[in-house]
Amino acid sequence: MKKIAFLFSFISIYSFAQQTAKPTGLVATKAMVVSARQEASKVGLEIIQKGGNAFDAMVGTELALAVAFPFAGNIGGGGFMVYRKANGEVGSLDYREKAPLAATKDMFLDKDGNVIKGKSTQTALAIGVPGTIAGVFAVHKKLGSLPMAEILKPVIALAERGVVVTKKQEKNINDYRDAIVKINGDKTPLATLYKENDTIKYPALAKTLKRIAKNGRNEFYKGETAKILVEYLNKKGGIITLQDLAKYEAKWRKPLQFTYKDLKITSMSPPSSGGICLAQIMKMIAPYDLAKMGHNSEESIQIIVEAERRAYADRSQFLGDPDFVKIPINGLLSDVYLKDRMSTFNVNKASLSSEIKEGKVNFNESTETTHYSIIDAQGNAVAATTTLNDGYGSKYYCDELGFFLNNEMDDFSAKPGSPNMFGLVGNEANSIAPQKRMLSSMTPTIVEKNGKLFMVVGSPGGSTIITTVLQAILNVYEYNLSMQEAVNAPRFHHQWLPDLITFEPDAFDKITTDKLKAKGYLINEKTTPVIGKLDCILVLPNNNLEGGADFRGDDTAVGF
Ligand code: DON
Repeated sequence: MKKIAFLFSFISIYSFAQQTAKPTGLVATKAMVVSARQEASKVGLEIIQKGGNAFDAMVGTELALAVAFPFAGNIGGGGFMVYRKANGEVGSLDYREKAPLAATKDMFLDKDGNVIKGKSTQTALAIGVPGTIAGVFAVHKKLGSLPMAEILKPVIALAERGVVVTKKQEKNINDYRDAIVKINGDKTPLATLYKENDTIKYPALAKTLKRIAKNGRNEFYKGETAKILVEYLNKKGGIITLQDLAKYEAKWRKPLQFTYKDLKITSMSPPSSGGICLAQIMKMIAPYDLAKMGHNSEESIQIIVEAERRAYADRSQFLGDPDFVKIPINGLLSDVYLKDRMSTFNVNKASLSSEIKEGKVNFNESTETTHYSIIDAQGNAVAATTTLNDGYGSKYYCDELGFFLNNEMDDFSAKPGSPNMFGLVGNEANSIAPQKRMLSSMTPTIVEKNGKLFMVVGSPGGSTIITTVLQAILNVYEYNLSMQEAVNAPRFHHQWLPDLITFEPDAFDKITTDKLKAKGYLINEKTTPVIGKLDCILVLPNNNLEGGADFRGDDTAVGF
């Protein structure tokens, strides 16, 4: 009997080992933080080393990103957080921006009802009521363990000490300098010509954070900071009032949970489309043997693209802020519906999205949102994605407060069928209304396998966030890549409209893309942008943690 038990355990260990790639990313035994900047990952990890939990580290990392990665890290934007406590309990927080009270449905249209180019992205009207400070305080109140002042200390120190410019950041500031100067004049901090290895200090932001540390959440929404912010926005033609700030609340929401084979996946529910779209895509592809078809093979790409096409079409029609619109979640996720949806899939021929004219699209080429993943020493896990929308948001930077403001209003559908900056089209469900939250694609996601924490995943990338997260999970689970390999692997994307598959540059062989073309797939030949920027953690079979930090940015995993 003992022998048989031994044999069985040997077989199961062996077959599991077969399915688990050797780690190639950073491996840690207890805790890990992976984010867009080493400085921010370190702040989070040090908080854990000091005895804090993953939620304390979330607060520290989120705010340290506002300092070290002003491109997307923020206190002038918003985000979503999904968690899984060590005891298996899950939850999620929506700290997404809201439309101001004075917003109107047609605020970005001219008198003929056409979208005014740039109005939802480059004017002060583009700014939604920020949610980040409400978000971190809500997390801290419900789940934190260290005093807030203790958590904020290293963040404030970082802002005062400054952050060293990386090669990639030098380029990025250069790329955006003209747009920033155009709005803020040439005295604004990022007007300076920074070079790699220079240090940028953020004294104004440090001062704001100190006031927040002293006075709490209401400093941002009702205090001196609120007053300075509203005064600044008024001067710039914005419509956010003190009442808008005072009314803002982050919201705990029931996360979106679904299964894929033996994985249980917890992701963000509306007002992010992330969880629903990810669930629809994964449920549609589940019947196919992707592992057998091979990673990034013609057949795999085809199945995934067809599922993506169908999910994004539903996104456009049905999804919006659940506080304002009724979303048929059960219908959208029903097995019968999704099976029927894929019934028109023909392996020999592309299904085209062509009943509706192709969007006039500017495919956004970069990754201006930011995601971080955290696992603490107790096994609590946090996946959080936060954004200003565009790089440096609306570019409006309040010098006195030391931060950029978002241009998240562009995530609303300014006019049915009219694409936003990510080429996404929307409908009535995502039309603008006062106090409404704009639909997001952010997909902070936690994966369990056999009831155990397995992966923490997320990415920036606008509309490509969902498909990037999908590929991270499939790369590990179906294609047996290590966490870091899964992050590194080249990605592709389809979003229904425009009816195009976009591939990352120089990474897919011509034979594969030619075969897809022969079946009628339209391929985006003009732009081959970087797709997403993953920061993930995988729990290895021996409970060690493997980080996957995306080489496409300055992203860094740290752990102990
Ligand atoms: O919430 C959203 O879906 C977008 N505002 C995210 C923006 C983003 O990822 C920018 N990166 N390319």
